[in-house]
Amino acid sequence: MDIKTVPPAGGDGQDCLRGLALAALAATAWRDKLAGVRAITDAAALDCGRTFTPPPGLPGRPPLPELVAPSQVPQRSMATQEGRAALLHALAHIEFNAVNLALDIMWRFAGMPEAFYRDWLRVAREEAHHFDLLRRRLEALGHAYGDFPAHNGLWEMAERTQDDLLARLALVPRTLEARGLDASPMIRNKLAGAADKESAAIVDIILADEIGHVAIGNFWYKRLCGQAGKDPVACYAELARRHGAPRLRGPFNLEARRAAGFDDAELAALQEG
Ligand SMILES: [Fe+2]
Ligand SMILES: [Fe+2]
Repeated sequence: MDIKTVPPAGGDGQDCLRGLALAALAATAWRDKLAGVRAITDAAALDCGRTFTPPPGLPGRPPLPELVAPSQVPQRSMATQEGRAALLHALAHIEFNAVNLALDIMWRFAGMPEAFYRDWLRVAREEAHHFDLLRRRLEALGHAYGDFPAHNGLWEMAERTQDDLLARLALVPRTLEARGLDASPMIRNKLAGAADKESAAIVDIILADEIGHVAIGNFWYKRLCGQAGKDPVACYAELARRHGAPRLRGPFNLEARRAAGFDDAELAALQEG
């Protein structure tokens, strides 16, 4: 397969769906990243076989938030506006990373069917919407994205799985995004319990969309397992071990997980831990 370099902005390939995803991934300012996602239209040409030489410094991100170890992200009380803003900021950072993850899978992994790239484009658009909802809510609470430190766990898993699409699908949508399904009801209830209905409503919107993202991950993971003659449950256990996936602990949102396409064998394996 011939290696083509990323064309400069305005050059040929500007209208290529996967090239536009790479350009949006490289954008550093959140405004530019959201504009980059909007610029990927359904009418863009799609070359599933094309390969790219990425620019250095992926993913593009702004100088703030400061990235720290998970243990250094302060836990704050939901009773204060500052505490709720810190929680919304943590969620906004997850969504910022989620935009990057959806864009990354589009340019990085060549040779999949057209529907694969269109699925992840839908995910990128929804993640951008989630980020924007949280960013606006933060603004209403007197804060901006970048005001609090954040951790980078989601992107670190992207790096560990950059050479293996099956591992990426197993460990990002089916592990880390699925963990979001489990965490959402508790986060939602915390916000609602603090009488912050606006923020709770945003978490509801995100949860509904995230079921779709995990479903897309499940669909392509199982398709690839089927093609390779691998058992999805055994293969998952092996990939989780090899790439150091976090051990998942309950309570699990079984209803959301079922809606996202996990079957009884997978849910049983999850609960056996
Ligand atoms: Fe999201
Ligand atoms: Fe997502």
